Amino acid sequence: MKLWGGRFEKGVNNLVNDFNSSIKIDSRMYKEDIIGSLAHVKMLGKQNIISKKDSEKIYDGLNTILKRLENNVIKIDECAEDIHSFIESTLTYYIGDEGKKLHTGRSRNDQVTLDTKLYLKKYLVQICNDILNLQFILYKIANENIKTIMPGYTHMQKAQPITFAHHILAYCEMFKRDLSRVLDCYKRLDEMPLGSGALATSTYLLDRNLVANELGFSKITLNSLDSVSDRDYVIETLSCLSMIMMHLSRFSEEIILWCTNEFNFIELSDEYSTGSSIMPQKKNPDVAELVRGKTGRVYGDLITMLTVMKGIPLAYNKDMQEDKEALFDGLDTVSLSLRTFSGMIETMKINKDVMKKGASLGFTNATDVADYLVKKGMAFRNAHEIVGEIVLYCIKENISIEELPLEVFKNFSPIFDNDIYEAIDLITCVEERKVFGGPSLTSIKAQLLSLLEFINERKEYVKCLK
Ligand code: ARG
Repeated sequence: MKLWGGRFEKGVNNLVNDFNSSIKIDSRMYKEDIIGSLAHVKMLGKQNIISKKDSEKIYDGLNTILKRLENNVIKIDECAEDIHSFIESTLTYYIGDEGKKLHTGRSRNDQVTLDTKLYLKKYLVQICNDILNLQFILYKIANENIKTIMPGYTHMQKAQPITFAHHILAYCEMFKRDLSRVLDCYKRLDEMPLGSGALATSTYLLDRNLVANELGFSKITLNSLDSVSDRDYVIETLSCLSMIMMHLSRFSEEIILWCTNEFNFIELSDEYSTGSSIMPQKKNPDVAELVRGKTGRVYGDLITMLTVMKGIPLAYNKDMQEDKEALFDGLDTVSLSLRTFSGMIETMKINKDVMKKGASLGFTNATDVADYLVKKGMAFRNAHEIVGEIVLYCIKENISIEELPLEVFKNFSPIFDNDIYEAIDLITCVEERKVFGGPSLTSIKAQLLSLLEFINERKEYVKCLK
């Protein structure tokens, strides 16, 4: 049954019915739809817009429907136009004509944005917890690897030695920013739109603040036209989700490289790997590859919504119904990716010796040789030139810098002395980088402490979100 049949002489074309229907997508908001209606009908009763008796009858009817849906006693009718029509017609079917009063002073335009916001608020809490869980796993891995030396790269070429903890903590910074962005987005969408009606509010004396309180919103929207045509919160969410995926994708790319035979820095657990149907030796990092691949989907969801919204005049237009498919896909993909990625990283084996060996090849201590000369009085540019020549010599001789005898060092500059070997030892190279934010033990310990504080603080904060 349509909610709007009165004005029509003919029924709607079957194809149009399917084309217009959103129930397959929005049925997952049944709970939010009912909770929103409960608050609305309670307010209608309190304001004497409908009688107390009717309000209570509708209230009880809605609660019964909620229970029956949760217990699978009723099934959502996939032929209905959308979840709002389904709940309203089910109510009238259950309680009779009083059900027809539920929609007093309300439009599906303010109802749908209310439902989406309620649903999204809960899902954003889930995303925050997914990020926090990943961060705690990364914290533990970093904590166990404060002394694990590995080569740091620029241009995918070995650059300077760092520690695995330093590398992992770099990703934690990205996820910290991701979490703050999600929480910011939550704050901005925490405005209750109901009472905006179709576009211009209502002639009834609706108490919007009462509904907002009932539903746990911190405030109400200020302009009814904006309320029903705003989907910024969908786009902002998808933008936050895209950034999360971008970070996960970069991390995945490194995981994929690290478990190649060429790198062999890590080994993924069997539980998080897959095999080949033809090559028996294969153990493929499919989880990381899928995370990298699914990043494209989430970017697609964001672009979908930016494009849908770019030419829509005020206020509601049916184009906006497209929002939920993109939003739900983005949320589902990111939550699943975060949770699967977390398990993969938690169970991987770290080949510390291989990492260290990797750092000892490729002249990662060349900058330290130059710094040694600078600390003994040479200008950095001159030191850079000399060390360049040393590296060229070592490449030709097929040896590493620390294998050079002192006399050879001295041929390049008389400044070199026996203490050069200590100065360019990989542990010294890492330890001497004591600058705030660097890989030295003290710096990493400070980073770890601040990460743990961040995780604990945000966990408490997220717990209190309504
Ligand atoms: N199913 C619609 C949506 O998701 C609900 C709003 C319908 N409003 C309307 N005026 N047809 O956007």
